[in-house]
Amino acid sequence: AQAQEAVKVGLILPLTGPFTAIGRQVETGARLYMQQHGDTVAGKKIELIVKDDGGVADATKRTAQELIVNDKVDVLAGFGLTPLALATAPLATQAKVPMVVMAAGTATITEASPFIVRTSFTLPQATEPMADWAAKNGIKKVTTLVSDYGPGIDAEKAFTGVFTKAGGQVESLRVPLANPDFSPFLQKVADAKPDALFVFVPAGQGAQFMKQFVERGFDKSGIKLIGPGDVTDDEVLNNMGDVALGAITTHHYSAAHDSPENKSFVEAFKKASNGTRPNFMGVGGYDGMHLIYEGLKKTNGQGGQALIDAMKGMSWTSPRGPVSIDPQTRDIVQNIYVRKVERKDGELYNVEFATIPNVKDPVKAAK
Ligand code: DHB
Repeated sequence: AQAQEAVKVGLILPLTGPFTAIGRQVETGARLYMQQHGDTVAGKKIELIVKDDGGVADATKRTAQELIVNDKVDVLAGFGLTPLALATAPLATQAKVPMVVMAAGTATITEASPFIVRTSFTLPQATEPMADWAAKNGIKKVTTLVSDYGPGIDAEKAFTGVFTKAGGQVESLRVPLANPDFSPFLQKVADAKPDALFVFVPAGQGAQFMKQFVERGFDKSGIKLIGPGDVTDDEVLNNMGDVALGAITTHHYSAAHDSPENKSFVEAFKKASNGTRPNFMGVGGYDGMHLIYEGLKKTNGQGGQALIDAMKGMSWTSPRGPVSIDPQTRDIVQNIYVRKVERKDGELYNVEFATIPNVKDPVKAAK
């Protein structure tokens, strides 16, 4: 028998440091997909090489270079934060290696290399429906509080653009990404007395935010909590307590999404991770592997430009709902759901109550 050829996938994630939760979600999702679908595609064995970048962009770039040169990977994947994806993009272009962004969400990322395809989301895509909802539901004055880097600035701009056009008033605050102390910002919010506080923090930081939110008595302030769904991500939501009840967010994934695909995904993910609930990062990893598998089936195992071309226009039913890859932008097109935090079967969930179907990244759609 001939030796079976392998297709190597280098998965680079923050698996140590402050953003470990993001990396673990993506890795669990990717491994779960492989466990369910076997490790052979188009007659080739899929070899997953998992590397930790600690959430540091220089390490991501160095690791990607080693994976390209030493391991000769066919695909780069992962990218837990925007700066990590942007630092690696030129290497994907140079080496003509497809780069599947499974987590990061700044709109411009897919423009940084023609070899990038994304299975997560963009912040403007998730945020514009939030501004629409707020404007139509009696909210007139909003303070935005966002992490001061790519995705936070995207969220702030997307919200402000749509909300002010609808006649709303916005005051903007930005908090450092690393070790954020929300207290001084929450004091400013208390003074401004907006109808709603719009928050973007990356997955995992919602817990710290919510702790300081309740310490300052915001749960009794009448100021509504809104934002893209990162702040109430499914992994940390249930430990936030009743303070989170009633928060309205817009996002592409909820563990409570009512579909047979999602029910079996949530169950299998929990089984694979000591009971951890999947969040939107977990589904990004799972769908990223799906895209790699289906792309390789179409190219009969070939990588490079052929693989990227095969991924363009691909559509499937994700645990999040119907999705496709925009052939022009290589970004994911997906439903955005309006959700409210409620207690369901004793646990806190983002319960979806409205759907905006097939949303493209609005920044690129406007170009
Ligand atoms: C990033 C974006 C997110 O929405 C998130 O939850 C975490 C990280 C990012 O692009 O850096």
